[in-house]
Amino acid sequence: MNKVKKVAICPGSFDPVTNGHLDIIHRAAELFDEVIVLVLTNTSKTPVFTKEERVQLIERATADLPQVTVESFDGLLADYAKEKQAVAIVKGLRAMSDFEYEFQMALTNRKLYPEAETVFLTTKEEHMYLSSSLVRQVAGLGGDISDFVPACIVPDIFNKIGKGVK
Ligand code: PNS
Repeated sequence: MNKVKKVAICPGSFDPVTNGHLDIIHRAAELFDEVIVLVLTNTSKTPVFTKEERVQLIERATADLPQVTVESFDGLLADYAKEKQAVAIVKGLRAMSDFEYEFQMALTNRKLYPEAETVFLTTKEEHMYLSSSLVRQVAGLGGDISDFVPACIVPDIFNKIGKGVK
């Protein structure tokens, strides 16, 4: 009997992707047959990297994971999840401060597409403090971001927002 592949979506703005995001993506890839990392619009944020740039950076950082693909989408996450018949939406939770916002999104997504469960993975302790805005801020002021993002995307981040390639 053919087993139906369990597809999960890791959504986010990924502006840019960090080691914290990548840890969640790796762990989602252990749990599901296919993982789609989906670059979306967060209407309360103004991104620095274009959607195409964000997709490229994630593609490079996940090149070692054959079950992971990277896409972007301009509409609702729930509509995309329905189109792909995804069984799960996987998000990382860093701290209680993330919880209220994430819980609200999870409930909204369940109303819009009940077939996908939102699954929260707790961020590893070493990534608790990490965020894309912190990476942008440190890079923008010429600081060392090598502990925050994979080495293969460091030059791109400095080319975009830093003071030249580090
Ligand atoms: O990394 P972020 O910015 O916390 O991710 C938030 C994101 C992009 C997943 C969220 O804003 C989103 O799902 N945007 C797509 C539009 C949508 O579906 N909005 C309703 C969400 S309840």
